[in-house]
Amino acid sequence: MNRLIQTIDLWKEYSNGVYALRGVNIEVFEGEMVGLMGPSGSGKSTLLHLIAGLEKPTRGKVYLFGKDLSQLKEDELSQLRQKHVGFIFQFYYLLEDFDVLENLTLIGQMAGIKKPKEKALEILEYLRLTHRLHHRPSQLSGGEQQRVAIGRALMLEPRLLLADEPTGNLDLAEGKRIFELFLRLREERSMTLLVATHNEELKIFFDKIDRLKDGALETW
Ligand SMILES: Nc1ncnc2c1ncn2[C@@H]1O[C@H](COP(=O)(O)OP(=O)(O)OP(=O)(O)O)[C@@H](O)[C@H]1O
Ligand SMILES: [Mg+2]
Repeated sequence: MNRLIQTIDLWKEYSNGVYALRGVNIEVFEGEMVGLMGPSGSGKSTLLHLIAGLEKPTRGKVYLFGKDLSQLKEDELSQLRQKHVGFIFQFYYLLEDFDVLENLTLIGQMAGIKKPKEKALEILEYLRLTHRLHHRPSQLSGGEQQRVAIGRALMLEPRLLLADEPTGNLDLAEGKRIFELFLRLREERSMTLLVATHNEELKIFFDKIDRLKDGALETW
């Protein structure tokens, strides 16, 4: 099986002396839907950011699609990310000066895909945001902003989706709908997913769960 993610003895110490990760080894194979669980502050976001190459580890290695991230130049890394990796941020980072539709279409336009508007409309329809196309992020509820962030990450049909609490602001029914969408994308597009969540009720959707505690993986 094709290994899309591998971390080896991954450590992250922040400049204030906090050890957010302490020697984490995880593997994610193509087509898997893997859960990343653990209490608040256990290192889930940090691990996802390191895997996406958004931050650098203090020690250890990240292999993404078989490539050692520490050996990639900045432009090679951003190309790899743009082409193959979708990231749903815990705190959204939507473009505040643009409306919902533009938040998605701009991503498609920058990447040069065909018919970005049609694609954006199709995604936004599934995410039940058709009535909010021309609202700015600040005019949306937390759950609506979260769904825009999900839509944005799906615009380029990434092979790998890294999702940081993608349903943290949604009720359980809506959260399940999002997870069902993830499973559908896995079936139809062979997408691979690594999803951080607190929600124990969503764990039935995962093939496998890595649990973090105080920056280390719990062993079973
Ligand atoms: N930029 C930073 N500078 C210093 N410490 C940080 C920074 N980011 C995170 N931390 C610390 O690292 C630890 C892990 O944080 P992280 O955000 O990875 O946890 P998390 O599991 O995602 O938590 P949550 O479930 O609340 O989102 C925490 O103790 C946090 O305070
Ligand atoms: Mg987090």
